[in-house]
Order: sequence, then structure tokens, then C-alpha cells
Amino acid sequence: MDDISTFDGLARLYDLAMPPARYAPLAAGLARARRPVHRALDVGGGTGRAAAAIRPETVVVDAAPGMLRRARSKGHSTVAGDATRLPVADDSVDATLVVDALHHMPDHHGVVGELYRVLRPGGVAILREFDPTTLPGRALVAAEHAGGFGSTFHTPAALLDLLEAGGFAADVVDGGFGYTVVGTVESEGHKSGHG
Ligand SMILES: C[S@@+](CC[C@H](N)C(=O)[O-])C[C@H]1O[C@@H](n2cnc3c(N)ncnc32)[C@H](O)[C@@H]1O
Repeated sequence: MDDISTFDGLARLYDLAMPPARYAPLAAGLARARRPVHRALDVGGGTGRAAAAIRPETVVVDAAPGMLRRARSKGHSTVAGDATRLPVADDSVDATLVVDALHHMPDHHGVVGELYRVLRPGGVAILREFDPTTLPGRALVAAEHAGGFGSTFHTPAALLDLLEAGGFAADVVDGGFGYTVVGTVESEGHKSGHG
């Protein structure tokens, strides 16, 4: 079973098991945008936990129909789609969130490429992940693999490298076991050289 099917099956229990997403690191990421944030996507957004924390009007994109049903039941707008093939036009979004989700996605370069493609110049990609070199990170890696997830985790430095290779100017805005990296799309001219 892949991670998407697993989350589809867990959707009814997901919000009972998870604490609310933290507002402060997501707000710090949004503050890095060099343009007004009108349109935001929560990619791998599941039941809308991160969208609810930061901006309820954020559109939740996910590949698990059960997770999207839960998000809709809480009033979120949703779009079904894979993070490597976002059903969204080029240069049409001001901010993207990927919270506790990238490690469940098999093609990290493909995801970063899609975030870059859909973001407008001055837009931001905010990724919240877990550092597998910390003590709780090591426990999480073991627990997710024992639970049958195919999770692949990055250190903050490795995720910075991944975003920079995808054309973003990247920065860590919140460190520790749970950390937040923000990638900014610099300018029109810069963007045309990537994607
Ligand atoms: C741990 S949940 C996180 C959900 C939400 N971001 C949160 O913070 O609560 C991971 C989510 O990623 C989704 N996911 C995994 N692979 C995906 C992919 N390739 N495209 C879109 N969503 C994906 C799963 O369906 C699941 O809803």
C-alpha cells in the first residue's frame, strides 16, 4: 500500500490523532513573500490542518479522496491532484504550503519543480518537515517505516539544497526536530532560467 492509500484509509481518524498545525512558522514563511498573498495552495494538505492554522481560504490539494472529504466537511476548498502534477496554471499562485507531507511523496525533485512552476515571481514555497538526525527525528523515521510508510526525510540543509537546485532562494525560518524552510521565487528573469 502506498502512503496515499494509507492516508485515505486513516482520514476519519487523522484529526483525532494530530495536534493543530503551528501558526508561527507558517506565518514567518508567508512574511517572506515579496508580493501580496491572495492565492495559496496547501499541497498534500490532507484534512486542511495547515490551511486552518494559517488561512482557511487556502485551497487544499491532495491525492487521497478521503482526506479531501474531511477538508471539505470543515469548509475548505479542495482540489484532487498529485503534487508532481498540480492541476494549476503556471505562475498563478502566491504561496504554497507543504506541511508534514513531502516525506510521504516519492519524487521530491518533481514536487519542488511543480511548486516553482505554479508560483508567481515573489511567491513563496513553505515546507515544514522533520529533521531525521535529531533524537525524536530518528524515532519518527523508525516509527513511520515500522508503520509501513515509504517516508524519506531530509535534513534542513538537504532541503535547502533541493529548493535551490529547483531555482528558489531558500532559507530555514524555524529549526529543530520540526523545521520550516522557505523558498522564494526571485524575479521574472531568474524564473525563466528554471522550471
Ligand atoms: C501526514 S499527511 C499531512 C497532511 C497535512 N499537510 C497536515 O499537515 O496535516 C500527508 C498528506 O500527503 C498526501 N500525499 C502523499 N503523497 C502525495 C502526492 N504525491 N500528491 C498529493 N498528496 C500526497 C497524503 O494523502 C496525506 O494527506
